[in-house]
Amino acid sequence: MTGELPLDDEAIEYIYQLYHKNLPPLVTEATLATATTASAQSDPPTSKSYRRAPTLPLGDVEETPFVSQLRQRASYSDPADRRPITDTELATLLTAAYGDISGDGEGHRRPVASAGACYPLELYPIVLDSPDIDPGLYHFDIEDDALDRLQQADYTDWVQDNWSWITEEDRVAAVIAITAIPARSAERYGEMGYLFACIEAGAVVQNLQLVAMELGIGSRPHNGLNYSSIREELGLRSNEYLLSTVVFAGKGPDVES
Ligand SMILES: Cc1cc2nc3c(=O)[nH]c(=O)nc-3n(C[C@H](O)[C@H](O)[C@H](O)COP(=O)(O)O)c2cc1C
Repeated sequence: MTGELPLDDEAIEYIYQLYHKNLPPLVTEATLATATTASAQSDPPTSKSYRRAPTLPLGDVEETPFVSQLRQRASYSDPADRRPITDTELATLLTAAYGDISGDGEGHRRPVASAGACYPLELYPIVLDSPDIDPGLYHFDIEDDALDRLQQADYTDWVQDNWSWITEEDRVAAVIAITAIPARSAERYGEMGYLFACIEAGAVVQNLQLVAMELGIGSRPHNGLNYSSIREELGLRSNEYLLSTVVFAGKGPDVES
């Protein structure tokens, strides 16, 4: 026994896969049940409303530059334009999403909040179209501010095969896969470490989209995935799991094509 965790094995049923389903009342079967026939006829509501409660109109929105930027956030709708990604852009995306942003003499700081500052996430860029980065699969090495090259290969076909909504028309420049090692949080928070990692991943997705928008790169979160095939390609051990991906293709939502 080396004490090393095994690589992913489909035969293993991971606790995290069962966690949400077994956590009442968050995700009971009733919670996940689709709308009844009556309400299915109209569009399902996207927010809750209290019909009998008195309502107070919200105040005016303060249109700061940041709020105006937030209004622009959108996922790409036309990924057919070729938009290669440079090493500076990838570095900007990774650092502004989850890098160490502390200045000299400051302690370790990241752009997202993290329960107990445990930082359970890992980011894996997959580069398909770049003028200055070889195509391949990389790991974002936050400590050394570097990319670890895990595979040098053309992933164009592989991405089309394993992302449900990506077709050969889509000119994908890069994908960033977000994984979690919940044990980093679980040491302190037990099974809630899994939930906290999911919450943190949402913040990373948002950062990636906002920065991509500013750089004029189209982005879209994708979870329609072949999880086991991607886990295998990333070489994940059983203590690390795939949470989400953000695909970069086409131009940003507010950029004329
Ligand atoms: C967790 C998550 C998973 C998503 N998965 C996919 C996906 O597999 N394929 C896709 O085309 N879009 C996916 N999306 C993008 C949503 O369809 C998109 O955010 C939604 O239509 C709202 O559009 P907007 O992002 O432009 O505001 C996903 C978004 C989230 C947050």
